Amino acid sequence: MSEAIRVAGVEDVEPGEALVLPTELTGTDEPISLFRDDDGTFYALDDTCSHGAASLADGWIEGGEVECPLHATRFGLGDGRPRCLPATQPVRTHAVHVDGDDVLLQVG
Ligand code: FES
Repeated sequence: MSEAIRVAGVEDVEPGEALVLPTELTGTDEPISLFRDDDGTFYALDDTCSHGAASLADGWIEGGEVECPLHATRFGLGDGRPRCLPATQPVRTHAVHVDGDDVLLQVG
């Protein structure tokens, strides 16, 4: 797993919202998004749905899940696994830690 990098401040993402992180910041080929569940918990997942060309950051975030805006598969924010069809493959998850006012990401 890579070194933790600061990707946002806690106040930058409201509960129920997500932020697409610049690939220059994450150093990844594919975009990663930072999700904040409605209870305030942060998660990071690859942004592109495993089923098609949809940005999960545009989805509905609630109760530990994000719902794809295109065909409504719900993915677990913690494990990236699809909870329903049509997607059958998980999206990659990444470790997130909150340190004071900073949100830190570890890609991997
Ligand atoms: Fe996400 Fe189809 S593109 S469920």
